[in-house]
Amino acid sequence: MCGIIGYTGRNEAEGIMLDALEVLEYRGYDSAGIAVCGEDHQVRIRKCAGRVKDLRSLCERDGLSGVCGIGHTRWATHGGVSDANAHPHQFGGVTVIHNGIIENYKSLIAQYKLEEKLKSQTDSEVAAAVASHFYNGDPYAAIRKTVLKLKGTFALGIMFEDIPDVIFAVRNVSPIVVARTEEGSMMASDVTALGQYSKDYFVLPEFHVATLKKESVELYDMSGEPVEPQWLTVNWDVNRSSKGGYPFYMEKEIMEQPQVIRETIEPRMKEGLPDLTQDGIPDSLLTECSQICVVACGTAMHAGLVGKALMQSFVKMHMDVELASEFMYTDSLVDGKTLVIAISQSGETIDTLEALKYAKRNGAKTLAIVNVKGASIARESDYVIYTNAGPEIAVASTKAYTTQLAALYLLTGRMAYARGVFDEAATRAFMAELQRAPEAIQKVLDRREEIHYIARRILNAKDVFMIGRGMDYSILLEGSLKLKEISYIHSEAYASGELKHGTIALITQDTPVIAVITQDKVQSKEFSNVKEVQSRGAEVILFMKENYRLDEDASWDSVFKLPQMRDEFMVMPVSAALQLLAYYVSLDKGLDVDKPRNLAKVVTVE
Ligand code: F6R
Repeated sequence: MCGIIGYTGRNEAEGIMLDALEVLEYRGYDSAGIAVCGEDHQVRIRKCAGRVKDLRSLCERDGLSGVCGIGHTRWATHGGVSDANAHPHQFGGVTVIHNGIIENYKSLIAQYKLEEKLKSQTDSEVAAAVASHFYNGDPYAAIRKTVLKLKGTFALGIMFEDIPDVIFAVRNVSPIVVARTEEGSMMASDVTALGQYSKDYFVLPEFHVATLKKESVELYDMSGEPVEPQWLTVNWDVNRSSKGGYPFYMEKEIMEQPQVIRETIEPRMKEGLPDLTQDGIPDSLLTECSQICVVACGTAMHAGLVGKALMQSFVKMHMDVELASEFMYTDSLVDGKTLVIAISQSGETIDTLEALKYAKRNGAKTLAIVNVKGASIARESDYVIYTNAGPEIAVASTKAYTTQLAALYLLTGRMAYARGVFDEAATRAFMAELQRAPEAIQKVLDRREEIHYIARRILNAKDVFMIGRGMDYSILLEGSLKLKEISYIHSEAYASGELKHGTIALITQDTPVIAVITQDKVQSKEFSNVKEVQSRGAEVILFMKENYRLDEDASWDSVFKLPQMRDEFMVMPVSAALQLLAYYVSLDKGLDVDKPRNLAKVVTVE
């Protein structure tokens, strides 16, 4: 969490950093700040609580001139949201931006007697103070000694006042990428902030120091030995990082789904069969395991739940789906016969990363499904399937989720084929249905105004229930999370058969119920469950497969008919419908759809 940026080059740094911070704002938006080295070699700071637009106004009134600077957009952990706690922090001649958590900051305050000297309540200022303590003209020695003292996670951008126009970067766990542009050098928390300036970047290895100069970038290990960076190329079009005419990134990203799902599936199809050779995944990985376990958080975990239903129903394989944040603390049973799949859009979620490391320590084979190229989870895994969703900027995940689903369908198809559960014809039929998913989603997107109309029915609700069975329930867990996080309406997804065991007590005429009915084998039971809540006065918004018939005796408040696919693929059109529902509620409530309160896009704290 927190976005960091650094620039040194031939152009003025302020504007470049403000633009980049706006892109990085999805990582945190409690406060923002920049530090710029002026011609007189003084490093000056502008920072404030609030958004990057507030910082921009501050800079318009009282700007900073200079060609080298570092900037930060914050998601508060240690210390409240205030101007003083905004980064950068300056101590002596050292200026620092930090993403992560310095766990031992209190003992460092005591050890270096900093209590009276600090201006903020942050752990980050302590890192600046420790670096200043060790600095005596040798930046590398100061950085080495500082990081040896720090416990926790950190991505640090550092400027020393007597080394003008040079930025130093070092990290442990929290990400930093570094790029050379046509007229300078840049670093950032992720490539989306750099894509407009350069397509070539490298991920700063942990405990290495990058030195960014106007003319070059240098990389050293902790003993001061030069290291050759491993250059990567940005794998998406920079235009995909803009809103493309939509009011919010979320709407744009919802609308992109048919295209990015195709881009995830098509390169992995050969003559109608799933083919994972481009990902370097051998069939032995899929045939030699006796159980599968997904570790993931939030939306990515919900994708895992759909994966579980697929694996169990098609491959007949046992699959667990674990909350990554709980995985290590529940004595999870994984061994050499377990395939652990880590699913993550950002590839940086620390809980998922730690769960993955735990699985490796216990001998499991690991596979990551990640969107961001070169991210930590991808690098830590034995194998990776990259989803080709492109940059996802809105905090609420949409296209990353459906491309994760696409990857799970591919994996299921390949696994069933490799294990001999599917013959060639069955595999082809499965894949042909997957290839229909973009078209089914497009049909829902084309009718988005109908969903906008339906969304008005829950605009003023305090609580909403979402009910369904089987795969309908799995997708509702995700639909409910989407509604909660961007509309602030309390919403609970419930397996509809379970309602009568207690929770139906909460259903009244004031609790709208969203029901999803798309699974033939439980269709009649799902309709009965809907009747149960209707009898308690609840207004029901129904999303159902288009070929189902409604009971003509019952009265229906709102019904949206979903394009028909095979049951196991219905999650695709349903996802799009529920994403749009949440989006329109948030939009009509006048909320900041892309940046819901208290959240950040990349969760790098445990
Ligand atoms: C919700 C959402 C989060 C993420 C979760 C994991 O819309 O985006 O629940 O899914 O924080 O993030 P990644 O996928 O980056 O590991």
